[in-house]
Amino acid sequence: MKDSYGRTIDYMRISVTDRCNLRCKYCMPEGIRCVPSEEILTLEEICQVAACGGELGIRHIRITGGEPLVRKNCCHLVRQLKGLSGIEKVTITTNGMLLKEHLEDLVEGGIDGINISMDTRDRQRFREITGSDGAEQVLESIRLAAARPVAVKVNAVSLDLGEENLVRMAELAREYPVDVRFIEMMPIGYGKAFPVMDHGKLLERLGKLYPGLEDDPRVHGSGPAVYYRIPGFKGSIGLISAIHGKFCDRCNRVRLTSQGQLKTCLCYEDGADLRAILRGEGKAETRRQLLLEAIRQAVEKKPAAHCFDCPGQITEQRSMVMIGG
Ligand code: 5AD
Ligand code: SF4
Repeated sequence: MKDSYGRTIDYMRISVTDRCNLRCKYCMPEGIRCVPSEEILTLEEICQVAACGGELGIRHIRITGGEPLVRKNCCHLVRQLKGLSGIEKVTITTNGMLLKEHLEDLVEGGIDGINISMDTRDRQRFREITGSDGAEQVLESIRLAAARPVAVKVNAVSLDLGEENLVRMAELAREYPVDVRFIEMMPIGYGKAFPVMDHGKLLERLGKLYPGLEDDPRVHGSGPAVYYRIPGFKGSIGLISAIHGKFCDRCNRVRLTSQGQLKTCLCYEDGADLRAILRGEGKAETRRQLLLEAIRQAVEKKPAAHCFDCPGQITEQRSMVMIGG
């Protein structure tokens, strides 16, 4: 699918739940309420949307949450999505807490990539950020996933936890064949209250710490990360700099929220209410046609760029856990 700016839209992020087993301060702090489960799309409804996506040119689907692995049958969904016509790649973004028990199912289901979110390896700091004592559990997930034939990336939101934290996170890419990516905090939901770390400065720091750091021009996936290599490292270091390195001109994605809204940009609340179509009256074929048309129209209206630099223009008020990151 092409949008009105000529960008190819072939990537759909699908949030399968707004629930999570962690309480990261910038995403889903303690006390936040979840939506009633009848408002969340069923797996069958998700597949119907994904099938329409595949028909329209979506080639890569990423399953997100909340925490996707808290949803029952999430691994089964991977298998179903992999079987859809047009869908070439299915990946997942998880906090790693439940990955150990689901890893084999995911691999067997044909998962093409696993992104594990972890901002710090320090046990105490991990607890401060997420509200849980899970650092060891997530590290074990990273180790286990890295040993499987699947692309593994570690996502760390840049929280300026000091140089030691930066080094310890980067070192994961020396110890394991995983890419470690630092993500600039985006002013969405609770993230608004956190400072954005300038990745220009982060890169400078990395360059000083690792003098052999050099550009890594290889393609690592379908996302906006810019990659660097460090001699002796098994994986690369990536920077995702939505604020200081705006990449909207290369945007390739749409997002399906767990409640069935198709969002075309993180910054704005607008989107197509696909759930209303999925649950509407009429024959299945009519609903399918309506879905196809609604997705096409949403992509047609996809905004040129985010406006994170003009906070007054941001219309998205929901938290990241509702949207899917
Ligand atoms: N800005 C950037 N990343 C965020 N995440 C959650 N909230 C934000 C935010 N405001 C990240 C999580 C996880 C991914 C799904 O999104 O840390 O890595
Ligand atoms: Fe859960 Fe991820 Fe949000 Fe943390 S950032 S609360 S792990 S969805």
